[in-house]
Amino acid sequence: MDKFNIAIDGPAGAGKSTIARLVAGALGFVYVDTGAMYRAVTWKVQHEGLLPEQEDEVAKLVNRMDIKLIPGEGGQQVFVDGTDVTKEIRSAAVTTHVSLIASYAAVRQSLVALQQQMTKSKGVVMDGRDIGTHVIPDAEIKVFLTASVSKRAERRFKELQESGTGTMTLSELEQDIARRDQLDEAREISPLRRAHDAVLMDSTSMTIEEVVEEILGLCKDKVGGGK
Ligand code: CDP
Ligand code: CDP
Repeated sequence: MDKFNIAIDGPAGAGKSTIARLVAGALGFVYVDTGAMYRAVTWKVQHEGLLPEQEDEVAKLVNRMDIKLIPGEGGQQVFVDGTDVTKEIRSAAVTTHVSLIASYAAVRQSLVALQQQMTKSKGVVMDGRDIGTHVIPDAEIKVFLTASVSKRAERRFKELQESGTGTMTLSELEQDIARRDQLDEAREISPLRRAHDAVLMDSTSMTIEEVVEEILGLCKDKVGGGK
């Protein structure tokens, strides 16, 4: 069976990366977390001492940056100009400013070109906000994954507490998620929205395993089970 591409979009904390990684593992596909790329640019902006509002400077920076995503057993590793920033890109400082950086045309143009390059040989599960609408509009499987804001904040809070990296309260997290959703949905270029041909899945009361099974079921129906 030929390889195919799977696009998973949705708002912050819906379970995209967890589910995309498991689906990729089950099919022997490569998982690509595009949010990590926008986070990597944001980390570099801060590391260089630029303000996120300096759009022209950010545009110049993104065009001379080298971003590498290395798939690994413990998840995807992210390198910026040779430095491993896998942990750093999850900081609250990066999370706060990433949606502004992601709204800049030059940033999106540069990262989308990289993402499209990665999907050329197929066999990719890619998650983000504009994958089904813009990055791989011809993806064989498209899913729009969502859940209530309170459930998403609750899950993210638990995750951060368990990893010992939580610095925000539950209500701060909920506010941050709602603010980012709003920015992602309202931006001019490739806003967050469901592609007309994406299957809507609401994971508010679904387990991770149930969502994974549903997506693998779609793969079986549409393309005969993958690989
Ligand atoms: O994991 P979380 O949902 O917190 O966010 P993420 O997937 O790491 O994405 C971080 C931010 O990058 C999002 O809030 C969007 O502003 C932006 N993003 C985007 O604009 N387009 C994408 N394809 C992926 C992420
Ligand atoms: O990538 P995205 O921001 O959409 O979400 P994530 O980082 O994959 O998931 C956020 C948290 O929710 C993780 O700790 C997942 O394990 C958890 N989750 C869950 O408990 N049940 C689901 N159905 C989906 C996600």
